[in-house]
Amino acid sequence: MHPSAAKFLLLIVAAASSFLSVASHGLPPRQLKRNASCLPHERDALLAFKENITSDSEGILSSWRRGRKDCCRWMGVTCSNQTGHVLQLDLSHRNLAGQISPSLLSLEHLEHLDLGGTFLSGHDGRFPEFLCSFKNLRYLGLSGLSFASRLPAQLGNLSTLEYLVLTEAYYLPSEVPPQLGNLSNLRHLGLASHDYLYTTDISWLVRLHQLEYLAMDGINLSTIDNWLHVVNMIPSLKSLSLSDCSLPRANQSLTHINLTKLEILELSWNYFRHPIASSWFWNITSIQYLGLSSTYLYGPFPDALGRMTSLSYLGFFENGNSATMAVDLKNLCELSYLWLDGSLSSGNITEFIEKLPQCSSSKLFCLSLNDNNMTGIMPQVMGHLPSLAVLSLCNNSISGSISPGLQNFTSLEELFLSSNHLSGQIPLLPRGLEILDVSMNFLSGHLHFGAPNIKVLILSSNKITGPIPEKFCELQYLHVLDLSNNSFAGELPVCSSMPSLRSLLLSNNEFSGKFPSLIQRLSNLTLLDLSWNKFYGTLPIWIGHLAKLRFLDLSHNMLYGSIPVSITHLRQLQLLNLSFNNISGSIPQSLSKLMAMTKTHTPGPTTTNGLYWYKGWVKNGFLDILSAVTKHQQHKYAEKSIFYIVGIDLSVNHLTGGIPDEMASLDGLRSLNLSRNWLRGNIPKNIGAMELVESVDFSWNSLSGEIPASLSDLTFLSVLDLSYNNLSGRIPSGRQLETVYDSNPTMYDGNNNLCGPPLQRNCSSGHSDPNHGNEKASGENSESLFFYFGLVSGFAVGLWGVLCALLFKKP
Ligand SMILES: *[C@@H]1O[C@H](CO)[C@@H](O)[C@H](O)[C@H]1NC(C)=O
Ligand SMILES: *[C@@H]1O[C@H](CO)[C@@H](O)[C@H](O)[C@H]1NC(C)=O
Ligand SMILES: *[C@@H]1O[C@H](CO)[C@@H](O)[C@H](O)[C@H]1NC(C)=O
Ligand SMILES: *[C@@H]1O[C@H](CO)[C@@H](O)[C@H](O)[C@H]1NC(C)=O
Ligand SMILES: *[C@@H]1O[C@H](CO)[C@@H](O)[C@H](O)[C@H]1NC(C)=O
Ligand SMILES: *[C@@H]1O[C@H](CO)[C@@H](O)[C@H](O)[C@H]1NC(C)=O
Ligand SMILES: *[C@@H]1O[C@H](CO)[C@@H](O)[C@H](O)[C@H]1NC(C)=O
Ligand SMILES: *[C@@H]1O[C@H](CO)[C@@H](O)[C@H](O)[C@H]1NC(C)=O
Ligand SMILES: *[C@@H]1O[C@H](CO)[C@@H](O)[C@H](O)[C@H]1NC(C)=O
Ligand SMILES: *[C@@H]1O[C@H](CO)[C@@H](O)[C@H](O)[C@H]1NC(C)=O
Ligand SMILES: *[C@@H]1O[C@H](CO)[C@@H](O)[C@H](O)[C@H]1NC(C)=O
Ligand SMILES: *[C@@H]1O[C@H](CO)[C@@H](O)[C@H](O)[C@H]1NC(C)=O
Repeated sequence: MHPSAAKFLLLIVAAASSFLSVASHGLPPRQLKRNASCLPHERDALLAFKENITSDSEGILSSWRRGRKDCCRWMGVTCSNQTGHVLQLDLSHRNLAGQISPSLLSLEHLEHLDLGGTFLSGHDGRFPEFLCSFKNLRYLGLSGLSFASRLPAQLGNLSTLEYLVLTEAYYLPSEVPPQLGNLSNLRHLGLASHDYLYTTDISWLVRLHQLEYLAMDGINLSTIDNWLHVVNMIPSLKSLSLSDCSLPRANQSLTHINLTKLEILELSWNYFRHPIASSWFWNITSIQYLGLSSTYLYGPFPDALGRMTSLSYLGFFENGNSATMAVDLKNLCELSYLWLDGSLSSGNITEFIEKLPQCSSSKLFCLSLNDNNMTGIMPQVMGHLPSLAVLSLCNNSISGSISPGLQNFTSLEELFLSSNHLSGQIPLLPRGLEILDVSMNFLSGHLHFGAPNIKVLILSSNKITGPIPEKFCELQYLHVLDLSNNSFAGELPVCSSMPSLRSLLLSNNEFSGKFPSLIQRLSNLTLLDLSWNKFYGTLPIWIGHLAKLRFLDLSHNMLYGSIPVSITHLRQLQLLNLSFNNISGSIPQSLSKLMAMTKTHTPGPTTTNGLYWYKGWVKNGFLDILSAVTKHQQHKYAEKSIFYIVGIDLSVNHLTGGIPDEMASLDGLRSLNLSRNWLRGNIPKNIGAMELVESVDFSWNSLSGEIPASLSDLTFLSVLDLSYNNLSGRIPSGRQLETVYDSNPTMYDGNNNLCGPPLQRNCSSGHSDPNHGNEKASGENSESLFFYFGLVSGFAVGLWGVLCALLFKKP
């Protein structure tokens, strides 16, 4: 399974299980009375358990001490208030590691044991089979644990068990023990797992007459042709979750549907590929949650959907754009989430919206129709949807303008309209709006704000004109502002402070004026992209005070003057692109202070999360944010890949002086471009220390001396351009350099004094070995530096991922 699909699946499973509180976790707390206190042998058993815990970083068991005699008051322990026996041990989701001690067996009255979400395991990492001997256990929770053994059949001995929660635990490949059919009191069976469990027979399930919750997600049930008939013999079922089970079809016919209590049905990630309407579940009107994503069901939705009046959630996304939805949903007053991304073959948005619930209080909270080939005009009024908070219509063919009535749409918090054919002006935004993405449309006119709580504003790739209005300064919660690829002009407003702003992307507009002083006040700025504008003047010294800056792209402007030395104070900086300006002077020394460009400090992906997106999870995580030229090609980087950028691009400026030796200390750098400057002196001899560098361009300068032999140590190097300098002497040998030369035979051009293979020119006796004669150079070098990324930013589309988070936001 694709990793993102797996991640999504987890969300789905979690969503389905949290959707209704089918399982009551834990017993009602029973307080201890003075007269019944902890029994000594049970206390000893707990202390023996503690002895086998090797790690307790939260200090959860610090109250478990011999000195504190009443073990009923220890953390995680609950006793009977009459007998003092330990009834419940709940250490779930605590950061505990170690072995589960068999001493627990002394807790003969134990009814509830939850160790889920810890790092505990049995002897030798095996499943602690002694747990199967408890006589009174009603709840056993081991979800998320890892065992180096199979799931034991002895679980079937726990005849009093009502809850067995083994979700997402890891075992050696095991058959689901049919002995579980002996657990006649079982109400909750959570076996969802991926690739660890298998079964060829589930007929034992019919013996579980009390079963309300069954989750077997990820278990391959492809050989069980009669699975539906088995399940249909468990009329007590309220929740059935069988996503990613390789179920072959859902079009079985049932003479009688017994599942009249079913509330949750999750069948996503099974490849059914038959007509939607032929599925077996449409008449079950008790269903509240219906998950059918990535099932490739096709054709029209049946009218029966319009009669499923309990339905609150319908997840039908990523189904290959071959379904149609013309059902009248007017009576679905409970419907809160409707996700149909990437599933419809066509549709008219106006007509679609008209068919949505028309109840006195519609609960529709989230409507997502991304990637659906929808046409029609952007609806002007949606008065019948007073609870709608998230509307996502990205990547369709919706035209028309955004209604001025949007301002009165007070429930709306997130609006995604990217990649449509919308035109006209952006109206005043509703006060509650937090996220707006209208990128890649044909919107024009000037910009107004009006949503004081906005956090993410993405207007890139439209035709919006005029200045950024002063009102912008009032947006105290703004995290991300992306106005790239428009026709904005003028200077940026001077705001007193914008504490939340992390990403400011203004590339490819007609902004002008001196380097904007606004930026000095953006103390949390992480990403600044001003490329392809008409900013002029010098780079201010205070740029070195933007301590959180990681990505700085000022390329393609008219900046002049020298690079302030303060720029080396930016310890987080991993991209510096000043290319295509008129910057002069020398490259600063003290480059080694750019810690984020060194190998030991190169940042990881987690630290960029939320850089562009205020909320974590974006569709595929591949929206292009920055683009950069490296290896002679423009590459686009998205939120998940942007952290790979570690580069310096100072190409096409008027830099003078030499390349500082300290440059080589940036051993995390992947790309360095100093092309087309007036740099002199030698290439630093220690350049071979830049172990990770993949692309180096020193072309079109006045570098002299020999090519350092250490260049051939750079095993990741795939592009090197030294053309049009005054380099001389024998070209160093080495496999890496030969490979690089083979893919770019012009890399030494325009250096008339270079000789030796791979060039045809033989070295005369005057030419020395490259390992000698560099002494002169090492003292002389100087300033200089680097470079790397280009720019532009386009945004792809469809954001159903973001919506996913919402499921948890308003349960
Ligand atoms: C003790 O337990 C009984 C039943 O088990 C319960 O009714 C009673 O309220 C409990 N007493 C206290 C003080 O919690
Ligand atoms: C489980 O029950 C079987 C008989 O039903 C017995 O032979 C076995 O020892 C029991 N296992 C445990 C661990 O109690
Ligand atoms: C438990 O189940 C197994 C297989 O399903 C069966 O053979 C066995 O007799 C059952 N044991 C008890 C004690 O019911
Ligand atoms: C499920 O099992 C069947 C039969 O054993 C096998 O052909 C199929 O590849 C399995 N599916 C997955 C997703 O592993
Ligand atoms: C459920 O439906 C089946 C037919 O699909 C029937 O044989 C069975 O008796 C029904 N009732 C129960 C409780 O399983
Ligand atoms: C059910 O769907 C499968 C395709 O998944 C198809 O081959 C089969 O004919 C369908 N059966 C019925 C009864 O519609
Ligand atoms: C479902 O309902 C439709 C119409 O009410 C009916 O024709 C069909 O037989 C029902 N199917 C089942 C399996 O009950
Ligand atoms: C846009 O939607 C179409 C289906 O309508 C889909 O094929 C395409 O991949 C989507 N484009 C993007 C960038 O997601
Ligand atoms: C969409 O539906 C509306 C209302 O029925 C209609 O006026 C419009 O022409 C339709 N648009 C398209 C592109 O079919
Ligand atoms: C918004 O609502 C107010 C009061 O109901 C109304 O006066 C105003 O015209 C509405 N604005 C728009 C643009 O529809
Ligand atoms: C670049 O700067 C130099 C002086 O440093 C100046 O002569 C030249 O006109 C500038 N060029 C541009 C395009 O601004
Ligand atoms: C270096 O920058 C110049 C100008 O931007 C560009 O043409 C060249 O391709 C870049 N070199 C590499 C190796 O990317």
